[in-house]
Amino acid sequence: MAGNVPTTDRLPLLGSALEVRRDPFRFMEEAPKTHGPVFRVSIPGLSFVCYADADLVERALVDRSDRYRKDPRERDVLGELLGDGLLTSHGDTWERGREHVQPAFYPGRLEAYAQVMLERSRRLVEGWTDGERIDVHEAATRLTLSIVAKTMFGVDDVEETGVIAGAATAIARRFEPSSVPMELPLWVPTPANRRYRRAIGELDDVVGAILRRRRSGDASDGDRPDLCSALLSAGEAGSITDREVRDHLVTMLLAGHETTAIALTYTLGLLATHPDELDRVVAEVREPAELTPGTALPHTDRAISEALRLYPPAYMLHRRTVEPDTVAGYEVPADTRVVLPQWSIHRSDRYYDDPLAFRPERFEPERREDRPAFAYFPFGGGERQCIGRRFALLELRLAVATILRSVRLEATPETELTPTPALTCRPDGPVWLRVGR
Ligand code: HEM
Repeated sequence: MAGNVPTTDRLPLLGSALEVRRDPFRFMEEAPKTHGPVFRVSIPGLSFVCYADADLVERALVDRSDRYRKDPRERDVLGELLGDGLLTSHGDTWERGREHVQPAFYPGRLEAYAQVMLERSRRLVEGWTDGERIDVHEAATRLTLSIVAKTMFGVDDVEETGVIAGAATAIARRFEPSSVPMELPLWVPTPANRRYRRAIGELDDVVGAILRRRRSGDASDGDRPDLCSALLSAGEAGSITDREVRDHLVTMLLAGHETTAIALTYTLGLLATHPDELDRVVAEVREPAELTPGTALPHTDRAISEALRLYPPAYMLHRRTVEPDTVAGYEVPADTRVVLPQWSIHRSDRYYDDPLAFRPERFEPERREDRPAFAYFPFGGGERQCIGRRFALLELRLAVATILRSVRLEATPETELTPTPALTCRPDGPVWLRVGR
């Protein structure tokens, strides 16, 4: 007979709140060592079961995904911002949305996007001077935002991307633990909530203006087969509402830039603090006369994969059981919140030797086969896998390669890679690196 799931809770009302609050990332690394791969965590207002095991993640995302759905709480928390975009919808609405959005990610489209990725990365690095100290997180955010705005919306306008960046920061702040607990409803007029509301309004204005321009066929916007035009045609054919068009565009704008910026920041930060690995990547990216999307860059790709292992931007996934399930001998009732923690699994010595060390060679093809498939899942898995996975990996390799073809980025005494437990594990402050030629 199945038993009850073990718990990490130590205090009657607070449960595990003190340990989680003190250092959530450490908690996620340590809890499976003490309690095994399946355990319950309670903090005031929230209780969930964690599956810190690669095979159980595969079960929830792939094999028995019929018993698990996206946690409706994500829709409650993010609904006002993302509406029925792909991240927050489910069922028929999600399926229809995925059909409308998918064409923007067909392999043929990526070729065209690659040119934008190369050109924007070159422009970024040209603005740096020898010896200058840069906040690589700020620079990476500007870069990925301008790439997603150009490729998905056809937006060049610096002012518009500036407004989007400001709104994105206000939104990220609202979900930082130092701001307010996520449970506090939006109508509570805290400063973070007010800024969040204003940010949504500003984003809506920008997206509305872009849509109006595209609808009126403004020549400067051209006739591009990008996401915006695909959605507008679906709207004209009556298969999608204006609100759905808006939700898809806002989702893509936000999901498409912050995660990639974080991955780029940690990749460059880890390389700068591991000079031997940096030398290998620099030598590789400077060898070809020209950089194209197809240039083989195995060291660069491995460094990016290893950065996504150590700092997975989406560091846990949220699901809810729709039926009871028995996992690892425990009964998990229907309507249970389940967390699938990339952070715990990617950093577990069950799957990786010396798991906290930065070692890109782990991703050599022959070594990958030693691990279960879901020992590594920075982009999730199953039918809800990240739609932008190939876009992001292409963007990362072209950006890292373009940057390191021109400059070496070196660590300074202030370089720190400390994550914040917000919606993503963005760095908790500037990540300073020195530009060398
Ligand atoms: C390194 C960069 C990225 C990471 C680590 C990442 C991670 C993820 C993860 C883990 C999920 C699954 C969430 C879940 O199952 O609950 C997801 C979904 C999604 N991602 Fe990404 N993502 C990245 C880049 C992008 C980009 C560049 C775009 C768009 C241009 C994008 C758009 C989306 C969308 C729309 C979804 C929802 C898909 C669906 O449910 O159908 N992501 N992402």
